[in-house]
Amino acid sequence: MSAKVANKRKTASKKGSVKKAKAKQPSAKRELYTALVAQLRSLLKGEYDFIANTANFSALVYHSLPDVNWAGFYLLHEEELVLGPFQGRPACVRIPLGKGVCGFAAKQCETVIVPNVHEFPGHIACDTASNAEIVIPLFDGERVLGVFDVDSPTLKRFDDQDAEGLNELVTVLVAHEEGLDE
Ligand code: SME
Repeated sequence: MSAKVANKRKTASKKGSVKKAKAKQPSAKRELYTALVAQLRSLLKGEYDFIANTANFSALVYHSLPDVNWAGFYLLHEEELVLGPFQGRPACVRIPLGKGVCGFAAKQCETVIVPNVHEFPGHIACDTASNAEIVIPLFDGERVLGVFDVDSPTLKRFDDQDAEGLNELVTVLVAHEEGLDE
């Protein structure tokens, strides 16, 4: 068995001395999301106004994530997503459930990462600068409340770490609104 397999924490060098293997460092992106979760908790503390909190949430993400040109909420009203607090250029106000990336994510109840929006059938272009997009649904139990949408001018801008980090942020927000973080 090689030294690597036999002992994950220590790796034998060629000369037989034993060095400590480097502990895996969190990526810069992971660290950014960890910091954002802490900042969000502090912004939310003691405040339960949904519009104020979603507005600050959008501003936090928009001004903290590099390379984004739009960040904001669409909230589900019956069969339609309606524009909520956001940062960026003015956007389309109503998106039918199932339409565009936002409507697709809300209908499928899943996070959607779009590396190139021009290849997504039915993508709704609100800002011509957008080339990539990520949409995170907000849940109250099984029920979808709406989505949080982030756009970027850079193709392939979003990955699984963004999906994980943004899901963590919206989970903190929804838990707070429901009084589950007290
Ligand atoms: N591109 C989205 C519409 C919203 S804007 O990007 C702000 C979509 O296809 O659903």
